[in-house]
Amino acid sequence: MCGITAISANKEALPFLLQGLEKLEYRGYDSAGITTIEGNHLFTKKAKGRLQNLKDLLKDENVLGHVGIGHTRWATHGIPSNLNSHPHTNNDETISLVHNGIIENYRELKEILILQGYQFHSETDSEVVVHMMDYYYKKEKNLQKALERVITRIEGSYALCIVSTIEPDKVFIAKKDSPLVIGKTADASVAASDIPAILDYTKDVYFLEDYEIAILNKGNVSFFDQYGNPIEKEITTIPYDNEAAQKGGYDTFMLKEIHEQPYAIAETLRGRVEGTDRIILPELDAIHDKFKTFNKAYFVACGTAYHACLSGANILERLTGIPTFTQVASEFRYCDPIVDEKTMCVFVSQSGETADTMAALRLAKEKGCTTIAVANVLGSSISREADHTIYTCAGPEIAVASTKAYTTQLIVLLLLGMYISQALGNENEDYKRIIEGIASLPQHIENILKDEKTFEHYASYLKDLKDTYYIGRSLDYATVLEGALKLKEVSYVHADAYIAGELKHGPIALIEQGSLVIAVATQPNIAAKTISNIQETIARGANVILFTIDGQEVGNVKETYILPDVDPILQSVLVAVPLQLIAYYAAGLKGCDVDKPRNLAKSVTVE
Ligand code: F6R
Repeated sequence: MCGITAISANKEALPFLLQGLEKLEYRGYDSAGITTIEGNHLFTKKAKGRLQNLKDLLKDENVLGHVGIGHTRWATHGIPSNLNSHPHTNNDETISLVHNGIIENYRELKEILILQGYQFHSETDSEVVVHMMDYYYKKEKNLQKALERVITRIEGSYALCIVSTIEPDKVFIAKKDSPLVIGKTADASVAASDIPAILDYTKDVYFLEDYEIAILNKGNVSFFDQYGNPIEKEITTIPYDNEAAQKGGYDTFMLKEIHEQPYAIAETLRGRVEGTDRIILPELDAIHDKFKTFNKAYFVACGTAYHACLSGANILERLTGIPTFTQVASEFRYCDPIVDEKTMCVFVSQSGETADTMAALRLAKEKGCTTIAVANVLGSSISREADHTIYTCAGPEIAVASTKAYTTQLIVLLLLGMYISQALGNENEDYKRIIEGIASLPQHIENILKDEKTFEHYASYLKDLKDTYYIGRSLDYATVLEGALKLKEVSYVHADAYIAGELKHGPIALIEQGSLVIAVATQPNIAAKTISNIQETIARGANVILFTIDGQEVGNVKETYILPDVDPILQSVLVAVPLQLIAYYAAGLKGCDVDKPRNLAKSVTVE
């Protein structure tokens, strides 16, 4: 996730570009850059790190252009660095471009362009697009036609803003699967990845749809389809102010991030599932043959990321038969774990900076293990120190309580399990069905989110309660641990999660008239057992909210929510969403500040 801005105006471009990037910094802050057109040359400046570094660089410059593009980067391909920062420029320095998204077939395109004599200066996927623009411009002698041809060649997701000294008044724009919004005032037309960047200029916006092309030219905007036919677009008037717009119109970042999950999951899957029968993780190709040598796997992390590990470990063991262990990082580092060069250790961290997880990683390396990190922040400490890193593509997570990072971690761990299973040559018959199911997850989550009111209603059961009990078995146990953590963190309602089969060994003593039990029973091989445990709690006066699958309904529960029909291995991703929403709405009922719960920090860099 990156942020882009663009303007064509009758006044200086720089103030809009920078103030727009400021509003988009939440989308990434690994580096920032701008290009303006000054006379007949491109003026480009880029700086690694936060936008302030770019501003400092520009402080003593007299930037004059009326047309320009800007970018704030959340690195996906290539470490954060000046060279990998946008804008990218063609070899003749006549075309400059910013990109948000992922070009999946960039390796193949890069090879073709190198054979044509193009020189690359960065490790990014985005740079191929500027050289392709150059290549097709030289054939077509027309920038719009060149862009039309480029978008037939690139695969993946993109929002592209392109300026050129060849047509110095214009900004050429195209998009697919990455957001782009366009606004127009009397003397300028502007574009950005998100509404807050342009709200100070105008509340009247156009939303560009996939495969559409827009051209900004001073106060005019023209729209075309991918074949160059002009199209008409409707203006939408944004009904909220800038502060609300930062949160995408949601009341809080947590709610926004919960709603971003279909997109975050789709981005995390992008380019990693080939057809219906193969998982592609180039990050691990170097150790493809080594997987046969591991006799043990460890999954290590903290908090929510640890809960993702519990699911990931369960899945890896089911799919590969490799004996798999999980451990909280703060324990792993002190428990003298029995691990060696035949152990594969997976470390999961959204921030990539958690002190305990880092210490555990260093210990595993000392003991000779092969280490794999699953991280969200590119270039973070964990990704620099682990032998191999697979990124979740959740984009920046701002709310302290993890939501989209968790579900994207589940996705990466699932892909990891499938990839290792492929490497061991033991894909079973269910393989194809699981892969089809993975691809359907974003749509299923969209549908679950439509039931938000139902989960808000479930949260009302918590209004006057001090305690709640979450129960599940097998994969559902990992899910309920995370559900309970979410509730505790944001609503301060005490919640405990239990393996349903353990209830009668002690915790059932807590159940009394009016206790609330949130039960998850999505695994067909064990659901009936959980349902017996539910009956035991009902017999003692509990109110039960049950998340289950078709055919496993139970009498006497207060509420039942039936999850979509997908392979059981995928259910943890789906159930996570209602549990997040229950926690969110319970916190609302209690008047809590969900984005900044008391006593918590987003990144725990101390022990
Ligand atoms: C809970 C939460 C924390 C983190 C934990 C690890 O919502 O966010 O439990 O999961 O502090 O953080 P990372 O993933 O950054 O290592």
